[in-house]
Amino acid sequence: MEGFARALEVSKLPPGSMKTVEVGGEDVLLVNVGGKYYGIGAICKHEEWDLSEGTLEDTKVICAGHGTVWDLNTGVGEFDEPLENEPLYDVKAEGGFLYVRRRA
Ligand code: FES
Repeated sequence: MEGFARALEVSKLPPGSMKTVEVGGEDVLLVNVGGKYYGIGAICKHEEWDLSEGTLEDTKVICAGHGTVWDLNTGVGEFDEPLENEPLYDVKAEGGFLYVRRRA
């Protein structure tokens, strides 16, 4: 568990849901897609909307602001202008909690 920080109770993130949590000063969007957990930067690189206000479609999150489609596997955002990638986080469930670690 080296480098992982406790982020949220597992029970607060049922399948099909997403939630923004602050971990170590960073805003992380935690997502549960059919029991698999994903972690991505929570603040849209376009105009800083919180991605938890968006829509989850499979392993993509559509920003509520202006529709950028963020891929939870790659951190890449599809928009009509190039955007910086979102950082990705590893997420682990243990002892009823989710733990996250920023990927290098
Ligand atoms: S703030 Fe996310 S698409 Fe504009």
